[in-house]
Order: sequence, then C-alpha cells, then structure tokens
Amino acid sequence: MKGKKVTVPGIIRKKGKERIVALTAYDFLSAGIVERAGTDVVLVGDSLAMVVLGHPNTLQVTMEAMIHHLKAVRRGLTLPLLVADMPYGSYHVDRASTARNALRLVQEGGAEAVKVEGARRETIEAIRECEIPVMGHLGLTPQSVNRLGGYGRQGNTPEDEERILGEAKLLESLGVFSIVLENVPAALAERVTRELSVPTIGIGAGPKCDGQILVFHDLLGLTPEPPPFVKAYGEFGAQMEEALRRYGEDVRMGVFPREEE
Ligand code: KIV
Repeated sequence: MKGKKVTVPGIIRKKGKERIVALTAYDFLSAGIVERAGTDVVLVGDSLAMVVLGHPNTLQVTMEAMIHHLKAVRRGLTLPLLVADMPYGSYHVDRASTARNALRLVQEGGAEAVKVEGARRETIEAIRECEIPVMGHLGLTPQSVNRLGGYGRQGNTPEDEERILGEAKLLESLGVFSIVLENVPAALAERVTRELSVPTIGIGAGPKCDGQILVFHDLLGLTPEPPPFVKAYGEFGAQMEEALRRYGEDVRMGVFPREEE
C-alpha cells in the first residue's frame, strides 16, 4: 500500500490545515475498502453492537466481541490510524481494570488509540498512563442512552452548551488527541472547534468541525433507519437485495450455473 502512515501527532497537526476523514469499520473486507478510499482514521466503533450484531443499543457489546472485530479490521489496514471504542462497562470500573481493558485493545486487537465517551478524568488518566492515546466523545454519547432517554440532539440550552464546552476543555487538558462531537448544534460544534487546539470530529454536528466521521453501513445505505443527520452516498442495501434476488431467480429457473461447454 503506497502512502504515508497516519499517526496521532499527524492527526493533531491537521487541525486548521486539512480536514480529517474518519469512518467506522468492523471487518477485514470493509477495512480494506475504507483504506483504499483514502480514509485517515478508522474506528472500530461500539456501533458494532447495532449495525453488525443486531443489538437494540450499544450497551451489550463485550470486550471479546470488540477485540474479535478489531483483529479483523487490523488485518485489513495498513495506513489509517486505527482507533477502538472502549465498550460500555470496560471503563466504568476501577482504574486498574480500565487500564487493563485499554491495553487489551492495543495488545490483542492492534488498536493505536482508544475512544471513550464522556468527560471522565480518572478514566482518561488511567489510559494515558499506559501510553495509549485517547479520543474523546461528547454531545450525544450513545452509551448514556438510558440516562438520556434516547438519541436526541444534545447541547440545546445555553446551560448544556456551556457544559459541553467545559467538558471539551477538560478533555483537552487531560491530553486527548481529538474529540468526536455527536448530534450537537452546528454553532456549538463550531465554538468548541474554535476554542480547542485539538481537532474535533463531527457526526451530526455541522460542517465546521476539523473532521467528520460516519458509520460505514449508514454511508453506504445499508442501514434501514439511519440517524437523520446521515448522508447516504449509495443505496447498496437495495442493490445487494436485488443481486441476491436475481441469483435466486436464476437458480430456480435453472439458468445458473450454465452447462459446461
Ligand atoms: O461507535 C461508533 O460508531 C461511534 C461513532 C458514531 C463516532 O462512536
């Protein structure tokens, strides 16, 4: 694979110069496609739970499942920065267990950084003490679905806006190398982006972030009901269904496979 390896310092250096392109991936094949498309950052997101494993939310995905998929993505990637989500429960525990779980994602799964939701001082300190770079995640944090009561937009009131900005500044002071801002007003994302020296990566957060991330299946039109802020760049779900239907027809009509000549 030709090109330059994307590193954590390289991502930080892009701030204000070049937009960061990030995508999720969950398996070997899609990782290769994502890399060949020129993506900077590949996240093995805990969205794995919903888009691949069929769970109703992200809460039930385990460390074992994350590592299983992370290893597959690792085998399909060379140049992009590989980030792994810390799944629910893996860092809502004591510092030693948090550090051990982050270390597993790096040592067993091959992640080069991990992502954690929320402004959690102890969590981020424990992981950074192991020399593992941390990506933050603020705004709509899907692992808080039960507390939030759904997946609605965050940062709608002036108080919430100040809280999220304060959390972003805390994360920056704790040394995260970037922050995902999910489902927040564009004006808030713009303000956070302006006031921080680390890059912001938006998803449903308007165009002024330093980068953007989307879920692989949402972008390709494979998810039946994607979030409203998603732009589908293809309708591959419908195309796949049509291809499979045609195959079924050919088999039933006896025209596939053809007689050998
Ligand atoms: O799990 C995930 O896919 C994510 C992205 C949506 C940022 O956290």
